[in-house]
Amino acid sequence: MSEEHEENEELKKSRLEYLEDLPGIGPATAQKLKELGFHTVESLAMATVRELEPAGISEKKAAAIISAARASIGVTFVRADELLKMRQNVLRLTTGSKAVDRLLGGGLETQTITEFYGEYGSGKSQICHQLCVNVQLPPEKGGLEGAALYIDTENTFRTERIVQMAKHIGLNPEEVVRNIIYAEAYTSDHQMFLLENADEVIKENNVKLIIVDSLTAHFRSEYIGREMLASRQQRLNKHMHKLIRLARAFNAVAVVTNQVMAKPDMFFGDPISPVGGHIVGHTSHTRVYLRKTAHGPVRIARLVSSPYLPEGEEIFKITENGIEDVAEEEKPKSSGR
Ligand code: GTP
Ligand code: MG
Repeated sequence: MSEEHEENEELKKSRLEYLEDLPGIGPATAQKLKELGFHTVESLAMATVRELEPAGISEKKAAAIISAARASIGVTFVRADELLKMRQNVLRLTTGSKAVDRLLGGGLETQTITEFYGEYGSGKSQICHQLCVNVQLPPEKGGLEGAALYIDTENTFRTERIVQMAKHIGLNPEEVVRNIIYAEAYTSDHQMFLLENADEVIKENNVKLIIVDSLTAHFRSEYIGREMLASRQQRLNKHMHKLIRLARAFNAVAVVTNQVMAKPDMFFGDPISPVGGHIVGHTSHTRVYLRKTAHGPVRIARLVSSPYLPEGEEIFKITENGIEDVAEEEKPKSSGR
């Protein structure tokens, strides 16, 4: 057994499995915390003192609970070299297209949020479907050997499409479908509620991919007008932060989709911009802009922002099989993009 393996085993043993195992949490407090959406030690480790306030526990006790949870899962203050180690735990998930994976530096990362934005039909939901299948692949094939959680706000998830994609890559479709946990969100409040209560489902099912498709549609239709903008942004911000913390706590990939809107009053730059403004932009670590082309199934993916990768573009296509590369001989010659 390698030293590293032993170290991991040791760490696992020292981990506390249930909320009730943490010092200072009795059955009543545990119940209240669960009502607030904290079902696991992992999610408590990522909580803030203020978030625990509604459970009726003192600030001091809340701080003690959070630090016990952190110590249990090994999240405390870290030295920069340890930070590097945490980065090394980052895993990558394939999109199904080598070109798009290359654009993203090897696939979508765990522990951060990747946002796909673009107009209707640009392929946002299709990529989400493909990722739900790919996440179940073994690491050597670009997967994370985990399950997917799909929060669908527009009722566009299709099991039949998953079956098609699974068959194509040689996975058992029935098994693949069983490993996708689906929830339809009816309103923005419901959408937030689902994510706030997702920690237990994530842990129990070894979820390695969390999708919110679409992140902004409900918020956009419910919060109308200038006077509601501030509260919309505040809620969106809270929602995104919950997502980041889940992605970190469970070393999972987080994906959100976003529509675009035209800015007719804009004279310079691209008049098409994603909904959600600065909040979504700053919280998404990686943003990818998807565009349709004059060449049927061919789409362009543009990396618009990333913490460390250069901007760039690649093409892919959406076919019966799912998300695929465009073969060299199929590549559009003209720049009819
Ligand atoms: P909105 O949610 O409306 O904003 O769009 P979106 O970006 O989510 O688009 P989506 O991912 O749903 O892409 C839809 C497009 O994917 C369709 O216009 C088709 O071109 C393609 N597509 C979807 N399903 C299939 C399929 O089963 N076979 C093939 N060949 N293409 C498909
Ligand atoms: Mg869609």
